[in-house]
Amino acid sequence: MRAVVYDRYGAPDVLRLEDVERPVPKDDEVLVKVHATTVNRTDCGLRSADPFISRFFTGLRRPKQKILGMELAGEVEAVGAAVSQFEVGDHVLGVSGFGAHAEFVCIREDRPLAHKPAGMTFEEAAAVCDGAIIALACLRRADLRKGRSILIYGASGSIGTAAVQLAKYFDADVTAVCNTKNLELVRSLGADRVIDYTQEDFTKNGETYDVIFDSVGKHSFRRCRRSLKPGGIYIETDLGFLWHVPILVLLTRRIGDKRVKLGIPRYPKEDVLFLKELIEAGKYRAVIDRCYPLEDVVDATRYVETAQKTGNVVLTVTGDHGT
Ligand SMILES: NC(=O)c1ccc[n+]([C@@H]2O[C@H](COP(=O)([O-])OP(=O)(O)OC[C@H]3O[C@@H](n4cnc5c(N)ncnc54)[C@H](OP(=O)(O)O)[C@@H]3O)[C@@H](O)[C@H]2O)c1
Repeated sequence: MRAVVYDRYGAPDVLRLEDVERPVPKDDEVLVKVHATTVNRTDCGLRSADPFISRFFTGLRRPKQKILGMELAGEVEAVGAAVSQFEVGDHVLGVSGFGAHAEFVCIREDRPLAHKPAGMTFEEAAAVCDGAIIALACLRRADLRKGRSILIYGASGSIGTAAVQLAKYFDADVTAVCNTKNLELVRSLGADRVIDYTQEDFTKNGETYDVIFDSVGKHSFRRCRRSLKPGGIYIETDLGFLWHVPILVLLTRRIGDKRVKLGIPRYPKEDVLFLKELIEAGKYRAVIDRCYPLEDVVDATRYVETAQKTGNVVLTVTGDHGT
């Protein structure tokens, strides 16, 4: 099968398309023919081994897993003897962790894999899971409900576009902050108010919120503190410079009445099933910026690394759109 492989850490051009052996599913696995996948910030971090500590999980000198790709949508090609939830021919979406930048990948059926909602393309389905599952991990720390207010900074990213929709689903009052070019998009995702950060500094307008969620790792608790209500929560997606965020998490548990929290996603299967229900109810959609063919993975990766993408960047592996 065709796959994007890398055997050393480095810049995007360490990625190359190669013919490799097609994986064979174990008893509890399904073999998925991948129609679409994404390039996300985690793929980029693993490939470049940034932060360095990621090497302790992915291989100290060289990557142990040679094929990246976390998210996918495709068709079940074969199932292991013990698989009961999926059948050959089912259309699925989910998170494989590694290996989705290829024509086929094996996933255990108890991993985050679900049937693809009808009427959705494989490209749309491939971009559903990662940003939304990270956003869920963060928002669950915020006790969102009717009457609670949240400001989402970086609302145009993969996590941000998901967070706006999910915070609205949890009935919170949502203020979203993004660049001029994304104001309309973010409003269309359900934000009650949108602030253009090139025109207005939300930390200086006197408004306060129960929760501030920095979904792109570009703000700081120090600068946002006065914009939090008493008892307010500041949520981060990143460990921050010199890993100061986990330290702030510990310190603010003991000092002051405002808390810092860090969202750590575990990618449970329940989250993918939850997202599938939201999509079927018309309450969630993945935002796609660009689609590239698999062979253009280096260009796609360079674009993701600009940190300027809007929503998600998709790789199409086959030409079948699957609606
Ligand atoms: N916790 C985890 O497991 C985990 C996993 C993956 C990623 N992350 C982290 O989560 C963060 C977001 O990831 P992502 O994939 O959602 O990012 P992303 O999609 O690459 O974010 C890109 C968006 O960020 C916006 N942006 C860039 N600079 C900005 C700034 N200074 N102020 C406001 N918006 C800005 C850009 O819009 P404009 O340029 O138009 O403003 C663009 O729409 C990253 O910091 C990443 O490291 C965490």
